[in-house]
Amino acid sequence: MKGEARAIRNAAAAPPGEPYGAPRAAVMSRDRFDAALAEISSWPGYQATPLHRLDGLAARLGLAALWYKDERGRFGLGSFKALGGAYAVANVLRGKVMAARGLPNVTSQQLLSGAYAEVVRQATVTCATDGNHGRSVAWGAQLFGCACVIFVHEHVSQGRRDAIAKYGAEVREVKGNYDDAVRHAAATARENGWTVVSDTSYPGYRDIPLDVMHGYGVMAAEVAQQLGGAPPTHVFAQAGVGALAAAVCASFWLRWGAARPRFVVVEPTHADCVYRSLEAGRPVVVGGDLDTVMAGLACGEVSELAWEILRGGANAAVALGDGYALDAMKLLAGPAAGDPPIVAGETGGAGLGALLAAQDYPEIRATLALDAGSRVLLLGSEGDTDPAIYRQVVGRSAQEVLA
Ligand SMILES: Cc1ncc(COP(=O)(O)O)c(C=O)c1O
Repeated sequence: MKGEARAIRNAAAAPPGEPYGAPRAAVMSRDRFDAALAEISSWPGYQATPLHRLDGLAARLGLAALWYKDERGRFGLGSFKALGGAYAVANVLRGKVMAARGLPNVTSQQLLSGAYAEVVRQATVTCATDGNHGRSVAWGAQLFGCACVIFVHEHVSQGRRDAIAKYGAEVREVKGNYDDAVRHAAATARENGWTVVSDTSYPGYRDIPLDVMHGYGVMAAEVAQQLGGAPPTHVFAQAGVGALAAAVCASFWLRWGAARPRFVVVEPTHADCVYRSLEAGRPVVVGGDLDTVMAGLACGEVSELAWEILRGGANAAVALGDGYALDAMKLLAGPAAGDPPIVAGETGGAGLGALLAAQDYPEIRATLALDAGSRVLLLGSEGDTDPAIYRQVVGRSAQEVLA
């Protein structure tokens, strides 16, 4: 046993065969997923990230198949977050140019050409982050040419702060946890006339996080193509505020309808806001310092928009002790016979951590409806986003693992 783990079924999960439906389409829609894919795939350096099939590990875990969507190479930023924050920055700037110049549309290609640099340069975007979202916003700001200020809480590692500063953003520390940093970023933006590009939504603030989430849909679209149309039986998605999980859940539901996979949300035991919310049937806030090695998941409040999808779209949730996430990193680095080595960060390997917990606890395996016929997709949401921490945990650098 590698520590504490527990799982619940979502009593309010939509029954198999329930269509996606208009209320959910008013939140996340096929049109907006398509628009995000068209824009993002036009950016310099765009490439689908690999989907690894891990037959050795599947056999060891008693599963029929296992896939790992490896986001380490996403636009050189190390995580899937590159898709969302930067896409929302592009849309904020497109909106500003359209308003300033009275234009019906402006593309991100036109922003990249520098044609509207005068307008773009006057804008400042900001957000709170655990690391990866801020990196994406900072990269987007640099790519499209506006200013950027990123707020980090006390527990964000120096490596992750440096990676944000590398893209030219000013990084400011806020006392407290992630949720304190979210509130501070919003207040500072109001005072200064900046635009908050947040990955979490709250009452009255929905449109920008919706862009972020539709950007994440690119990952789901790639997976569907890479699988050649045959859906897996299960998807494991790690959740901080739940935006990634909701985006992938919605995208697969729209695409596969009644054949959509069972959807399992994975969180750390001390930051299990989606788990607690599914259990209670309403959003529940988790307090405290949310301490976990899974840095990207240290969030205590589920995003309002994510909740609208996950309350019916999630079938189950797992809460995991840190030991499982660390073991998953090591297992992916020194893989089962025949499988490729994979570099996964503390948060990136959490889905595999949940499968390891299901091996230790038969009741978790039963709750998740895993058996020898299961074909499981893991969202490998990040690589070694903090290389120093990665080396400390795995004992080797990413380069050594992949050599
Ligand atoms: C690597 C990684 N995976 C997963 C997540 C969770 O995403 P969300 O907050 O949208 O639930 C994050 C969030 O920062 C992350 O950095």
